[in-house]
Amino acid sequence: MNLTIGSDHGAVELKDTVKKIIAEAFPDIEVNDVGTFGTDSVDYPDIAEKVCAEIVNGRSERGIVLCGTGIGISIAANKIKGIRCALCNDVYSAKKCREHNDANVLAMGGRVIGVGPAEEIVRAWLTTEFEGGRHQRRIDKITALENR
Ligand code: RB5
Repeated sequence: MNLTIGSDHGAVELKDTVKKIIAEAFPDIEVNDVGTFGTDSVDYPDIAEKVCAEIVNGRSERGIVLCGTGIGISIAANKIKGIRCALCNDVYSAKKCREHNDANVLAMGGRVIGVGPAEEIVRAWLTTEFEGGRHQRRIDKITALENR
């Protein structure tokens, strides 16, 4: 699997942590890091756009977007057609957003969660499959909303 990750200045440390977690636990996942790479202030919608473009154009199957709270960047990501971004601060949500919502992008807040929860969330999100069935009907309705 190819996965694109990006963060604003509020979550650069978390981005490095998540990359390390993935490299150690999921060596088959190729991670594409679109930045940011320092502590200079950047605008989270620009990062959301860069990450989500990789999914929309088919180069990545999944994305992880990070900002201080995870809120702004998840709002921005969900404006992009084809993106279902879930802001998760707990493992239950990380599992359910895969099983029920087929979330293709995970958002987390670098100023909200620590390394331990982030690791469990990422592991759950990467290993949980979409259940389909009645949930596919609901995803289709989301897609219909996007196409209005
Ligand atoms: C940047 O200071 C901060 O606003 C951003 O990281 C994020 O928390 C926005 O939702």
